[in-house]
Amino acid sequence: MADAISEARPRVFVARIIPELGLDAVRAVCDVDLWEDDLPPPRDELLRRVAGCDGVLTLLTDKVDDEFLDAAGSGLKVVSNYAVGFDNIDVAACARRGIPVGNTPGVLTETTADLAFALMMAAARRLPEGDRYVRDGHWKTWGPLLLLGPDVHGAAIGIVGFGRIGQAVARRAQGFGMEILYHDVNRLPDDVTRPLGATFLPLEDLLARSDFVSLHVNLSPVTRHLINAETLSWMKPTAVLVNTSRGPVVDQVALATALRDGVIWAAALDVTDPEPIPMDDPLVGLDNCLIVPHIASASRATRDKMAQMAAANLVAGVRGQPLPTEVPPPA
Ligand code: GLV
Ligand code: GLV
Repeated sequence: MADAISEARPRVFVARIIPELGLDAVRAVCDVDLWEDDLPPPRDELLRRVAGCDGVLTLLTDKVDDEFLDAAGSGLKVVSNYAVGFDNIDVAACARRGIPVGNTPGVLTETTADLAFALMMAAARRLPEGDRYVRDGHWKTWGPLLLLGPDVHGAAIGIVGFGRIGQAVARRAQGFGMEILYHDVNRLPDDVTRPLGATFLPLEDLLARSDFVSLHVNLSPVTRHLINAETLSWMKPTAVLVNTSRGPVVDQVALATALRDGVIWAAALDVTDPEPIPMDDPLVGLDNCLIVPHIASASRATRDKMAQMAAANLVAGVRGQPLPTEVPPPA
């Protein structure tokens, strides 16, 4: 019985505690070295722990580059990222070594769109300021001019990056009777945009016409600092900027200046550059900037699904099978 002398179980490093469903699926097949701290493994510890592994399950806080792949060694068969985004991974470096990279697309689309909408509404209607006002004991009477903001319903929303998540935001905006504008590197086919009532515009026109601008692009050299002093100056002074994509898509220094000087009215950020945002960053001191700690996919159901997908990619990879959801290697 040749397979009874079966090889040792694959060894994997899992870089954080993920929902149990995913850990169970990995443990059923692999010997798991689990990083149990709330904070990510420090770099030297990460490089030590991945040495000799067959597979790794990483988070967007773990940088996977040539140094990491060298540390892991030639037995590494898969990098499974617990995220849809993969800008923490040098996918080309993995491809050169024949190592597939997995991500978790699709399952967090609607959950992320929910948060983008929540941020937009919270910034418009000044919910964090209102909450602080009550708790700080300032609520003395009903105020005709208290905490006024723009309407969300009927306003124009400009969606930058019209992939799955951008389109999911558009579906929500339809329910609010919003005018839906989008910009993307590619114009999408009419059968996608028509049911959403979405109109393509060049970035400059979109920024000039939108009351709300929501960012849904991947981070790449092209999108880094897409929102900068110049593009912010194209926006309305009443506009609200929402970012649930990646922090570096926005030039944060320019954003702080724009918010302080009234170039735009407010911003709501789920992502910053760096993360966590330093407490002395000027944005932290601005009442018209709402910041939450990168929680767009943080619903219980979605995190469970992400865990199952990341586990399925990891297990397939260590078995030498195609990953169920593989990041396409660069051409
Ligand atoms: C989170 O930001 C993700 O990319 O899944
Ligand atoms: C989100 O899930 C996306 O895949 O765009």
